[in-house]
Amino acid sequence: MAEPHLIGEAMTGGYGRGADILHGCTLSVDKGEIAVIVGPNGAGKSTAMKAVFGMLNLRSGSVRIGGEDITHLSPQDRVAKGMAFVPQTSNIFPSMTVEENLEMGAFLRRDDIRPTIEQVYDLFPILRDKRRQAAGELSGGQRQQVAVGRALMTQPSVLMLDEPTAGVSPIVMDELFDRIIEVARAGITILMVEQNARQALEIADTGYVLVQGANAYTGTGAELMADDEVRRTFLGG
Ligand SMILES: Nc1ncnc2c1ncn2[C@@H]1O[C@H](COP(=O)(O)OP(=O)(O)OP(=O)(O)O)[C@@H](O)[C@H]1O
Ligand SMILES: [Mg+2]
Repeated sequence: MAEPHLIGEAMTGGYGRGADILHGCTLSVDKGEIAVIVGPNGAGKSTAMKAVFGMLNLRSGSVRIGGEDITHLSPQDRVAKGMAFVPQTSNIFPSMTVEENLEMGAFLRRDDIRPTIEQVYDLFPILRDKRRQAAGELSGGQRQQVAVGRALMTQPSVLMLDEPTAGVSPIVMDELFDRIIEVARAGITILMVEQNARQALEIADTGYVLVQGANAYTGTGAELMADDEVRRTFLGG
């Protein structure tokens, strides 16, 4: 059997010379599927995403994409291998227009990026209307659309999202999740961190509960939602 498209396996490490934050953390996602990471504040969810993207030096463990070991590649080289990352904060250029943000996302490309910009506008039609507006003037949900759109400009095979629905209304959250499902259906592998655990697990093929930098529970989204212990401890009953 072929291995999952994206694997961060037994990742252990922390920031600089500081103590380890991740302790043997493993995350994997099959092609075109959605994996969701949930867990308490400070559990190391963002750190795990940064480790997969190469922003952290791992003391042990590995990261593989499409069967290729990329553990020692820089983030930029991982982008060239098909990874795109939308960080939790500072994920757009607020003073640039929406379209300039999308163009920035394609900085590694040398081919015609226009068709991809149109695809992003088809996915998020409001961005087409606002393409000449400064991204910082947009609503929270629209700024997240810009961030996701910018990430899609490299035509990634893996899209990593750290709390894409932070600070948006429930309606906007549902809408964003629908778009993320659409992206996955197009064959893009999704790894995302979510604070809205219940709603995110509903759309997850695989769910990971991280606690103190380690895997506490893993299962399908439905399995985790049906697990009494997970519900009581992490989903508010
Ligand atoms: N740049 C950094 N340098 C040093 N320590 C950091 C850094 N970023 C995070 N940490 C520490 O790593 C641990 C995990 O933080 P992380 O941001 O990964 O958690 P999280 O699960 O994403 O939390 P949240 O739900 O609040 O986003 C925390 O103890 C935090 O203080
Ligand atoms: Mg975080």
